[in-house]
Amino acid sequence: MSKTYKIAVVNGDGIGAEIVPAGVSVLDAIAKKHGFNIEKQSFPFGAGYYRDHGKFMSDDAIETLKKFDAIYFGAVGLPEIDDTLPARDYTFKVRTELKQYVNYRPVKLFSGLKSPLRTKTEKDIDFVVVRENNEGEFVQSGKTFYADDAHGFATDTSVFTRFGIERIAHYSFQLARKRRKKVTNVTKSNTLINSLAYWDRVIAEVAEQYPDVEFSKMYIDNASASFVLRPEVFDVILTTNLFGDILSDLGGAIMGSLGLGGSGNINPEKDFPSMFEPIHGSAPDIAGKNIANPIGQIWSAAIMLDHLGETEAANDIVAGIEATTAEGNLTVDLGGNASTSDIANRIIKHIEAKK
Ligand code: NAI
Ligand code: MG
Repeated sequence: MSKTYKIAVVNGDGIGAEIVPAGVSVLDAIAKKHGFNIEKQSFPFGAGYYRDHGKFMSDDAIETLKKFDAIYFGAVGLPEIDDTLPARDYTFKVRTELKQYVNYRPVKLFSGLKSPLRTKTEKDIDFVVVRENNEGEFVQSGKTFYADDAHGFATDTSVFTRFGIERIAHYSFQLARKRRKKVTNVTKSNTLINSLAYWDRVIAEVAEQYPDVEFSKMYIDNASASFVLRPEVFDVILTTNLFGDILSDLGGAIMGSLGLGGSGNINPEKDFPSMFEPIHGSAPDIAGKNIANPIGQIWSAAIMLDHLGETEAANDIVAGIEATTAEGNLTVDLGGNASTSDIANRIIKHIEAKK
């Protein structure tokens, strides 16, 4: 009997309603080709759901999502809804409650695309940002005091635990062993002399257990410049929740568009389902026009299948993306005029044609 994967589908808001269905159509095609089944169930969670129900997801959502093999997600957030809520009440909630402590964000230049970095080619841009996804700067532990007063002030405290640092470090070194065996810890311990100095110390201890992997440290300011000037120095970037969030958008930019970046929020032990989503947000400025680039969403489907053990299917999706970009089929953000659905259909054609 062929395998069946249970996938929870959460379009979310904005362009999610266009790019997630595009991704699902690719998933259906790849499943058919590789002889497995995808059993999908859609959930209407997000800012639109909040507008109608006063909350971002149903009260039983986390327990319900636990029953799936994976979650395939677009993005959440709408201009008319308080933008402090989407991360707190949906994205971070799922990431932490389902212990998706790895945010895996690959950066690579697809065939046929020109990077905005004039002198860089495919061989120069091929690395992964591993963003710590459960703690750090985004634990939202803080308070706003006397906001309307002259002496108003606000705090957000970062939390870095030995347990949290060790597990993300081990993941990064093990990932590097499958790649070019190089880990760069992107940090700022010269100024965050408590939290990030401790982060560095624990990572250096873990690094000693991987003598076959080249290990170095780079400050976030230098790393940002290096993304632009010499991206070829990177293989696996191990970094914090905030730094990884920012660097992965920069990674999207050097690939040619934010719309290209795919990602996985991963629980490596598979105790809980992982969640796969593009690196960008809900892009309300271009929603509803069928012009959003679906490649980041479709790449996220490949990352999902790889996580589920369908590596050949995952590779086929990436090959389909590359064949599509190589022939110059591009959405507006990349200077083309193909629609969201054109790109998905083209990728499906390539998947079906490939032997
Ligand atoms: P954004 O990533 O949605 O958009 C930034 C810019 O990139 C926009 O000009 C947009 O049109 C463009 N863009 C993004 N994805 C694209 C695609 N697939 N194809 C072509 N162009 C694309 O970030 P922004 O504008 O800061 O945030 C919009 C909303 O998304 C906010 O409510 C924000 O909170 C939310 N957001 C949600 C995330 C999530 O659910 N994980 C992550 C980031 C932002
Ligand atoms: Mg982000």
